[in-house]
Amino acid sequence: MALPKRVKLVEVGPRDGLQNEQQMVPAAIKIELIERLAGAGLSTIEATSFVSPRWVPQMADNAEVLRAVLASPLHGAQVSYPVLTPNLKGFDAAVEAGAQEVAIFGAASEAFSQKNINCSIAESLKRFAAVVDAASALDIRVRGYVSCVVACPYEGAVDPQRAAWVARQLVDMGCYEVSLGDTIGAGTPASVKRMIEACAVVVPIKRLAGHYHDTYGMAIANIYASLEMGMAVFDSSIAGLGGCPYAPGASGNVATEDVVYLLNGLAIESGVDLDKLVAAGQFISRHLGRAPASKAARALLSRQRVA
Ligand code: HMG
Ligand code: MG
Repeated sequence: MALPKRVKLVEVGPRDGLQNEQQMVPAAIKIELIERLAGAGLSTIEATSFVSPRWVPQMADNAEVLRAVLASPLHGAQVSYPVLTPNLKGFDAAVEAGAQEVAIFGAASEAFSQKNINCSIAESLKRFAAVVDAASALDIRVRGYVSCVVACPYEGAVDPQRAAWVARQLVDMGCYEVSLGDTIGAGTPASVKRMIEACAVVVPIKRLAGHYHDTYGMAIANIYASLEMGMAVFDSSIAGLGGCPYAPGASGNVATEDVVYLLNGLAIESGVDLDKLVAAGQFISRHLGRAPASKAARALLSRQRVA
């Protein structure tokens, strides 16, 4: 199949990237990071999550961050800031802070569902249906996630049919798009293709997104394999930040800089300015006191130092 001509990137660094950081990042840094990402041309930026602060203390400043970015002049430039909402309590708090798009997050593995959101898959779907109903009454768009679509940190390999079944439930509920999460980055092009094949039988591929963590260094290869299957939406994280506090061993998401470098090389449009993106990655990496995990960013920064 011909590769797509244009790809939508969903930047998840401010949420997936920072949720796993032990050191508390001040709200002002998160807000500046999001503004820099919007300034680099990213049009969908997952800003924060309305989850329990006991479970994820780093996201306790959710309302402050969301309110500030929604008030930023860049918001008028059609930037969308989805936020995670696991239940009605989170949804109500997100709406109170002005959310115009939310995301619900389920799993293809029972054990991960229990560890991450403290309930079974069946119970989670009931909670999500309530969120989707409340959202549709307010004209708020809902994105869905399925975690552990390839492997689970507790159960091992996951049957692609399980991932497909949960993806279909989310679409039937009213999610406009479902992001398929290789939460622990164990997938390879072969297992990711098998998983997408199963999902694409029950959900049109244009409504599926790839969310690949890079634990084994396979995420870029997995994105290329997904592009070959016609997928055109990918989640990525600035500087390769990320991980899930409830998925032991999971490392960061694929770095947005690496994905944009790949897309530029394939002449696939993303609307993102790589230099501004690298500067945004440098900003947050400096704050965290380490170099960006993105290889493309490191190479471009070392060329700048030589020039
Ligand atoms: P629970 O303890 O079962 O909740 O947690 P509960 O309903 O029994 O309530 C217990 C307390 O939590 C109550 O407060 C509630 O009010 C409060 P108390 O009366 O004890 O003071 N509470 C909340 N507070 C704030 N916001 C809320 C909320 N809900 C209840 N929304 C819950 C259930 C879902 C809340 C919890 O398990 C949780 O917050 N989990 C989130 C974990 C998380 O954020 N994980 C990372 C995101 S998922 C991910 O990274 C994967 C992804 O990237 C894709 C991939 O890579 O695969 C998306
Ligand atoms: Mg993730």
